[in-house]
Amino acid sequence: ATASSGTGGRIGFEGIPASVADRVVVPRGYVAQVLAPWGEPVGVAGAMPAFRDDLSNSAEEQALQLGMHHDGMGFFALDGGQRGLLVINHEYTDDGMLHPGGMAPWTAQKVRKSQAAHGLSVVEVALADGRWQLQRPSRFARRITADTPCMVAGPAAGHALLRTADDPSGRTVRGTLNNCAGSTTPWGTYLAGEENFRFYFAGGRDRDADQRRWGMTEQAFFRWPEHDARFDARQHPHEFHRFGWIVEVDPMEPGAAPIKRTALGRGAHEGAWVATTADGRAVVYSGEDARFEYIYKFVSRDRIAPASAGQSAAQANRHLLDDGTLYVARFDADGTGRWLPLVHGEGLLTAAAGFADQGAVLVRTRQAADLLGATRMDRPEWLAIDQARKTVYCTLTNNSARGAPGQPGVDAANPRANNVMGQVIRWHEDGDFDATRMRWDHLLLAGDPANPRPEAQGTIRGDLFACPDGLLLDARGLLWIQTDASAGEMRRGEMQAMGNNQMLACDPATGEVRRFLTGPVNCEITGATMAPDGRTLFVNIQHPGEPPSDRSAPDEVTRYSTWPDGGRPRSATLAIRREDGGPVGT
Ligand code: FEO
Ligand code: CA
Ligand code: CA
Ligand code: CA
Repeated sequence: ATASSGTGGRIGFEGIPASVADRVVVPRGYVAQVLAPWGEPVGVAGAMPAFRDDLSNSAEEQALQLGMHHDGMGFFALDGGQRGLLVINHEYTDDGMLHPGGMAPWTAQKVRKSQAAHGLSVVEVALADGRWQLQRPSRFARRITADTPCMVAGPAAGHALLRTADDPSGRTVRGTLNNCAGSTTPWGTYLAGEENFRFYFAGGRDRDADQRRWGMTEQAFFRWPEHDARFDARQHPHEFHRFGWIVEVDPMEPGAAPIKRTALGRGAHEGAWVATTADGRAVVYSGEDARFEYIYKFVSRDRIAPASAGQSAAQANRHLLDDGTLYVARFDADGTGRWLPLVHGEGLLTAAAGFADQGAVLVRTRQAADLLGATRMDRPEWLAIDQARKTVYCTLTNNSARGAPGQPGVDAANPRANNVMGQVIRWHEDGDFDATRMRWDHLLLAGDPANPRPEAQGTIRGDLFACPDGLLLDARGLLWIQTDASAGEMRRGEMQAMGNNQMLACDPATGEVRRFLTGPVNCEITGATMAPDGRTLFVNIQHPGEPPSDRSAPDEVTRYSTWPDGGRPRSATLAIRREDGGPVGT
């Protein structure tokens, strides 16, 4: 294990070595504090059930506590940044670790608890004497779960493909799920993706071509359909179309329903990130974290409206993301790229091709992108936007199927077969963020120069990592990269030099990479969020102790990790600060 310690440009901390220890390690001079673990009550007044280590909390109690598997996150300042709201995604559940006795027997009550541990949390936090604390009770404290009523907006709202027996209007969906990455908008709301929604639905053997294109399987990975017919696509085929959207939440309005924004397209969205054009329109970038899927951007028709007397910016922009143009990216071999419009009636997207209207284009965004010849990517995860330089970064986490028999081969943007390491791509928009042309290159290819396979060696200048996922471009221009190699991969030969999942800082001007944080055993590092003053970095530790997929008994999980407190492994939010209170990373 090596760590760089040069005097790189803007990176001001001492890099740390790779680690296989069951703890969080940060550079000298930094402190990482556990702030918000799974199971803590979020702070709804009069309803704050304590976490019970024997897992006996009910579904109803779980719906008042932080959910499982923290992922993307956003910070909303309440006054000066010393107090604020954290919105935290809870991507999914490990049901072997959620219920007493694991998954046997599998019951309706366990399905309800799993659904209650999905979704989002809103918690109030405050800084005092250098430590962040949950503020409970808080009038903002809230859980959004797989059962919370959500509204549908944009061109697909009310579409025939979204209507179900429970919701003949096609405009109200129960819940959001598999919320992966999160971001904040310039108008003070939060955007969350609905990533691997296919894992919740059972399609049976007679799945149609559309269901197969979207990866629906015969049985559901999460086993909800066994006790909740809503997720049985044989009985309720349109419920599947009601997930895979970008969801917008106004954290300042605890009573406001989350809104699924269909104009941004449907997909296994990791998340969505907003840039602003010179004339004040919103450009929302997103990708689908699935092998050979695409990168998108949406350009709003209208300008972002300012707050006014009696109306917050969130309220003033309540319909901003419902009208505009969606594009998909094509990365050409000469280093240029095109944004191809996904507009009904334009080019190939006609009724004759199976797209009756714009709602159909949006429900079947993947098939529309297929027709246009967009570039099939190596699993796009997070994006980060350099507003001043009109530049966008995107992690392409890995794609071991690239170049396999019957699968797409390499292309310029996805240049390695059996790509287990991943890469970071970036593009510079031609003029402004609404451009239809861009120039692209790779910031780096992840890998290990000591690997005997040339295609696994990579181009990293500095500390080694694999499987880039979370991204954050901070106000000073440092690009923070978080990794998500699977538990099995981390133990296998090709990634041994990288150790546990980690977070690194990259200076995009020089390409230098330096390791900042290493996580406990079998966790993912995610959720990078900076407080407005740059003096606190919030990070999520997801699924410490996750068993490799071949695990047998649920109780074995504690043998992999006892983070954070020596007992049961729990996902948790960290608050990381310098001991001297200075800006993080300098
Ligand atoms: Fe939920 Fe693509 O990570
Ligand atoms: Ca991710
Ligand atoms: Ca990932
Ligand atoms: Ca994960």
